[in-house]
Amino acid sequence: MSPPLDIQAVRRDFPVLDQMARGKPLIYMDSAATTLKPTSVVEAVTEHYRMGAANVHRGVHFLSEEATRKFDASREKVRAFLNAKEAAEVIFTSGTTGAINLVAHSFGSRLKPGDEIIISEMEHHSNIVPWQLLCERQGTILRVAPINDAGELLLPELEQLINARTRLVSIVAVSNALGTINPIEQIIAMAHSRDIPVLLDCAQAVAHKALDVQVLGVDFLAFSAHKLFGPTGVGVLYGRRALLDTMPPFLSGGDMIRSVSFAKTTYADLPAKFEAGTPHIAGVIGLGAAIDYVNALGLERIATAEAELLHYGTSCLRQIKGLQQVGTAAQKTSILGFTLDDIHPHDIGTLLDQEGIAIRAGHHCTQPLMQRFGLPATARASLAFYNTKAEIDALVVAIEKTQRLFA
Ligand code: ALA
Repeated sequence: MSPPLDIQAVRRDFPVLDQMARGKPLIYMDSAATTLKPTSVVEAVTEHYRMGAANVHRGVHFLSEEATRKFDASREKVRAFLNAKEAAEVIFTSGTTGAINLVAHSFGSRLKPGDEIIISEMEHHSNIVPWQLLCERQGTILRVAPINDAGELLLPELEQLINARTRLVSIVAVSNALGTINPIEQIIAMAHSRDIPVLLDCAQAVAHKALDVQVLGVDFLAFSAHKLFGPTGVGVLYGRRALLDTMPPFLSGGDMIRSVSFAKTTYADLPAKFEAGTPHIAGVIGLGAAIDYVNALGLERIATAEAELLHYGTSCLRQIKGLQQVGTAAQKTSILGFTLDDIHPHDIGTLLDQEGIAIRAGHHCTQPLMQRFGLPATARASLAFYNTKAEIDALVVAIEKTQRLFA
């Protein structure tokens, strides 16, 4: 067994942590919104702009070849990270949202009025609104699987929604607002037993859980680099070749064609078919560096460190009278959602910020989920392996101070 992570050593990889915020040592508990970036990622991105800022797949010159080599190497790193069969199944997008929109427009364009898509009550808006727009365009019907009060998906209810008209199950692997880890293996088995493809929104899952697309047998998987310690503005759609090959392009323009004439245009093979325009080259290179970083730490060791933080944080928050945890699933990542007396979560966030503690407050782009719990918003402390128990203690002190101020 590998030794546990040396958190103090790991924290040195994130110079951003070594600063004061509002006159207090910064405590960053907003990793579900975006993770911090280790020096190696920042350097990979900077290095591209400093020494190799050429375009990819176009030039015959040295810099373009170098940029292309690094760009392609990143695709291979993503392939290996997800254990995809081939690198061509890895499509670079602008992020999870871009990836889901690609599927909604491309795969979705073949759907007929009355065809159904299943999502769940805990989806992020990015796995709701693209399907609602598809419904408006094509008369598709959106079905929503319910959850229980702990924030767990009700599998029998989900199964009941599957019928002869179901064309896709699109489910979040880990809830950004609740931390719930969904039983993706069971969901995929359930859908596949009726030949229905599955899309997994892995925006939150990707930094906390190993995802092997071949073992899962998943059809589409989306994630964002910035929630995996990488840059913003870049992400991945993994798709099974058998599906991607039959799907029409989504965005069109340069790079995605084989030949263009005014009479007829033909399209490039995967992955170029879905990558119109100059990509986020530095971002893709940064994503490769982020994967190297995560691989070096080891996702298992990361998960172990975060499970300990989750356990400690959950029991600390439980001691605070008037604090209600929102998202108490048996299987969770290190997300601590809560309400506090009748203090508005935005006020909680603002007062914690005065203590140097960064959390997110609001609906977390999950308004239907908030409605399910009868709440306008929650406060959410989301932890990563670079957080410490001492920081959780500071969070508790700051929450109690907030309570006293509002008493
Ligand atoms: N989806 C991100 C979050 O949960 C932005 O904060």
